[in-house]
Amino acid sequence: MLMVNVFSNIDSLCNDALLYFNQYADDAVNRRGQFLVAVSGGSTPQKLFRSLAQPVYAAKPWWRQTHLFFADERCVAPDDAESNYGQVKRLLLDHLGENQPQVYRMRGELEAQAAAADYAQQLKQFSENNWDWPRFDVIFLGMGTDGHTASLFPGSDPAPAEPVLAAKAFYLNRPAWRVSLTPRVINCARQVIFMVTGADKAEVLSAVINGTGDLLNWPAARVNPQDGAVTWLVDESAAEKLPPDLVNRR
Ligand code: 6PG
Repeated sequence: MLMVNVFSNIDSLCNDALLYFNQYADDAVNRRGQFLVAVSGGSTPQKLFRSLAQPVYAAKPWWRQTHLFFADERCVAPDDAESNYGQVKRLLLDHLGENQPQVYRMRGELEAQAAAADYAQQLKQFSENNWDWPRFDVIFLGMGTDGHTASLFPGSDPAPAEPVLAAKAFYLNRPAWRVSLTPRVINCARQVIFMVTGADKAEVLSAVINGTGDLLNWPAARVNPQDGAVTWLVDESAAEKLPPDLVNRR
């Protein structure tokens, strides 16, 4: 049954995400010799990236078997303050020394269509089953106040055929052109972890979780791995409108 793990603040939420990251990395490397992970941008996962950069985690042996991908990217240069890769580099990769993962960034400096095609090719190197993309061990996603996740925005095609798409959307003052994994790829993952904070997301979170089935308007509801699990890590204020029986206070 679906449960939403609710935390009193973002620090304890990110700490839980850190434990999942470590557990899935260990497990994937032990079982399959590599760890395939994709992360998102936005403010919510910043503490997770910082924690992964702390000496005890920076020294973890699994980094060298880790393949680090992105769920989405903004079309800006990699050193731009708005780049999702840039954020991960500054908060995490720059602190790992020699113990680096293999990083597969979306080339935000390209025109969006070209960047999407380029990333589809990068994913293809990891083809699994009959797919042109890997089966991710875990994908970390956020959710916007409009229900978008990765760069799948309300009103976009709920089930595009391609694994990676170019999107244009206006959200806060963030760069409009984006590149995103699509549900075809996301829904092949073993695990998906949503990290959601803030009272301004409470309404949409309850719509997504209550399964209104409106995939057009609530893109986060498009995330539904066929043979995997979704874990929700949410703070108190985002959880305000959830039915109490779904809430697991941590
Ligand atoms: C991005 C994203 C996006 C993000 C949400 C939530 O690059 O903007 O990957 O989907 O996760 O917009 O962002 P916050 O964590 O800042 O609320």
